[in-house]
Amino acid sequence: MPPDASAPFLPYSRPLVSEEDVAAVAEVLRDPIISQGARLEAFERAFAEKMRAAHAVAFSSGTAALHGMCFAAGIGPGDEVIVPALTFAGTANAVRYLGGTPVFADVDPATLCLDPEAVRAALTPRTRAILTVDFAGRPSAYAPLRALAADAGCLLLADAAHAPGATYRGRPVGSDLAAMTAFSFNPVKNMTSAEGGMVTTAEAARAARLRQFRVHGMTRDPDRLEAPSPGGWYYEQQFLGFNYKLSELHAALGLSQLRRLEAFNARRRRLAAFYDKALAGLPLRLPTAPPDGLHARHLYPVQVLTPPPRHRDALFAELRAAGIGVQVHYIPVPMHPDYRRMGYSMAGLPHTAQYYARALSLPLHPAMNDADAERVAAAVRAFFGASG
Ligand SMILES: Cc1ncc(COP(=O)(O)O)c(C=O)c1O
Repeated sequence: MPPDASAPFLPYSRPLVSEEDVAAVAEVLRDPIISQGARLEAFERAFAEKMRAAHAVAFSSGTAALHGMCFAAGIGPGDEVIVPALTFAGTANAVRYLGGTPVFADVDPATLCLDPEAVRAALTPRTRAILTVDFAGRPSAYAPLRALAADAGCLLLADAAHAPGATYRGRPVGSDLAAMTAFSFNPVKNMTSAEGGMVTTAEAARAARLRQFRVHGMTRDPDRLEAPSPGGWYYEQQFLGFNYKLSELHAALGLSQLRRLEAFNARRRRLAAFYDKALAGLPLRLPTAPPDGLHARHLYPVQVLTPPPRHRDALFAELRAAGIGVQVHYIPVPMHPDYRRMGYSMAGLPHTAQYYARALSLPLHPAMNDADAERVAAAVRAFFGASG
């Protein structure tokens, strides 16, 4: 059956907002405090608890959280940070905001996360951190990456924008698997605060630095002041920070969504399991789940194995024409013109390059019903001439 072009557009992701979420946000507007209040603290406490982290510090976006995390890791000019080439550019941009140098390493083609062997080859005496990405919601190879970081005397940091609720060997992503972990709550993520982010860490000193970074580097904490306080109005800017605060409106939405994170992820996993079955036997490489952890299934990226003209670009065009909002995650960071102009290239990144040529993310989000998933699978099967 040809795809039905009149069917409503199905995005690859969208937020699932409930009446409870609406009520939580509306309640804030009846309160005199709409920023820096009790909801922010409650959201941070609840998130830390869920991720089994000692501290969680909220930011105005995932990118701001990454920036804060890199700052708290002490990254500055002359420091190298190893990042996967396969990620949203924001991961590497955070290193550059601080004058650091991103060093791109290849991914393991089986997991699409940083390949520890590629990381080992990229280490230099200037490596200050390894910044891994839990790509598509799959936990990174935390144990080997931690061992490499420990041997090299650098920090392991994580970008878990895709992976709230994922676990690695029984421990949640965001616990103490990395020195710090950054999350994003933008509207396409597994849970949303409209815009927002969070950094989790086991260390109180890092949490304090993160909190200060999001308010211009300022503090009014009497124990931390550098000069004697002349009065109750007094505060100090002790380093250059930013205004990266999360409002009470955003925090209320994030806190409300957090309560449903497990249900959202369970639905994502059921949809992924449906695709696994419905697409088996086609000339596609399907994403796999880790043997020793829980996948957060942020994305369902398939790789199209057939050559042109029945390649990825053709499947992308056909599905989009049928109103199915497939997307390519991501253009490898070194391929962006801004990075090319800095001298970056895809040399030494064969797995990322091959993945990028073949990849397509199918719609996957908890607002999808079974008929939506069947519609996607039928359209993919039809492309390959298989019956629906
Ligand atoms: C892997 C990754 N890192 C960082 C970000 C940045 O998050 P945000 O859009 O909240 O700034 C995103 C999302 O866009 C992402 O997918």
